[in-house]
Amino acid sequence: MLSVDAAAEAQQRWRPVVHFAPARNWLSDPNGLVAHDGLYHLFFQCNPGGDQWGNMSWGHAVSADLLSWKELGIAIAADTDTMIFSGSVVVDTNNTAGFAGPGETALVAIYTGVNRMGPRLQTQQLAYSIDGGRTWRRYPGNPVLDIASTAFRDPKVFWHAPSARWVMAVAMAEARQVALYGSADLKRWEHLSDFGPCGATQGIWECPELFAIRHADHARAPLWMMKIDVFEGHPAGGSGAQYFIGDFDGRVFHASHDARWVDHGACFYASQTWYAPAMQPPRWLGWMGSHHDARHTPTVGWRGVMSTARELAVRGPVGSERLVQRPVLPPHPAHARCIALAPQMLEDARIGLPVRSRAIELVLEWAEISAADLGVTFRAGQSDVLKIGYSRGRGEVFVEQMPEGTVAVGTNRERRHAMPYPQPAAMQWLIVLDACSVELFVDDGEAVMTELFFPCAPIDVAWVHAGGGAALLASCNAWNLAPHGPPAIGSVPIGVHDEKA
Ligand code: FRU
Repeated sequence: MLSVDAAAEAQQRWRPVVHFAPARNWLSDPNGLVAHDGLYHLFFQCNPGGDQWGNMSWGHAVSADLLSWKELGIAIAADTDTMIFSGSVVVDTNNTAGFAGPGETALVAIYTGVNRMGPRLQTQQLAYSIDGGRTWRRYPGNPVLDIASTAFRDPKVFWHAPSARWVMAVAMAEARQVALYGSADLKRWEHLSDFGPCGATQGIWECPELFAIRHADHARAPLWMMKIDVFEGHPAGGSGAQYFIGDFDGRVFHASHDARWVDHGACFYASQTWYAPAMQPPRWLGWMGSHHDARHTPTVGWRGVMSTARELAVRGPVGSERLVQRPVLPPHPAHARCIALAPQMLEDARIGLPVRSRAIELVLEWAEISAADLGVTFRAGQSDVLKIGYSRGRGEVFVEQMPEGTVAVGTNRERRHAMPYPQPAAMQWLIVLDACSVELFVDDGEAVMTELFFPCAPIDVAWVHAGGGAALLASCNAWNLAPHGPPAIGSVPIGVHDEKA
């Protein structure tokens, strides 16, 4: 338990610096991500009336750089008949739906309307904006797609140029299927095909998306990726996202390999990419939460945080391509760098880094790894808060939050989550730590873990260590992501303490 003063201080300290969190109330899935007129729009599932799930409506925030966000008012509000569940926004450049007048461009939201009365039917509905996303009108002809189902939701729509029509991926949640539909005008939809069940089918399917993605070497034609969130069955226990890479011929998606996990942590869900046809590579962000325990997070008055925006590509040989994700972070001016260590061999030793900021980017490069374990432990005062480690014996990279240094979230959440990473000789870790979250990107985004954690007190030191053998710490650099936020990294001289572990 925190004291009353510590609890009040923690409420401020848990607010993120480079991630979006609402000023008040509940936040979950990102919705309607669209880049338009030089702004990135982020709509999101919110409850305008409280900090728990309910009254689902679309909140709204905008950003020019995907790092600092301005929250605007509610974009599409629930009413007594209908809740506004997840969905997407497109820019209707050719006015296919006819919502724009002369000289105007309509943004069209395609979302799931959920009946609040009687059978809780889920149908696909439209709203449109002709003022760049500020204000929205619901289409009087709603719904535009109704299959008399109570588990039919989360439409994500894109323009498919080769067939000159809109394509929608939408979840048939209980059936563990994604239905694809096509339309010339966003109002009349033709069923094209169904994908699934396959991969993780233990839990219901939500928030699917189909999109084109390039190979990192840019030599090959774009591939297609199907991402599906699953409510159960993720290795971190509970919900997560799986993906398939394959081909799309305009009607049917064919996966060319088995399901893989998008993120190995417990807190990355309901991601979607920004609708921005000219933009390569695609970028997405996800909700750093899970319906299994989001209602128990210890914030007061506001609840829910988005992940960093991440640039996406695929890497690897034909038939075994994998997703890589790189976070969008501030550029690296030299003055914001607060830690830069010369290369050094660590053998049963540790080094202390003064990490006195709520938000940092820490990049560690490991080489010549023969150590049984290595990693970095963040501490607040005398308590360990968070450990990021590699265990040679288990062949895994893990993130573990320590009971003595963190406020528990829920009752049955595992504190240690791991991903297989067998016997690397070298590894690069990019760690983004921001107030109440950590995102770990291994080897340029090949493997990712996202976790929420709530430190009891401000983190002040990070110990980098290697034990049971040696490892070369080839480089270690940190940048302060909260240069104006008290207290800052670099407010103390950069000191390095060598110590035997
Ligand atoms: C996923 C989800 C969606 C639904 C929304 C409701 O988190 O369950 O399937 O549209 O949240 O808030």
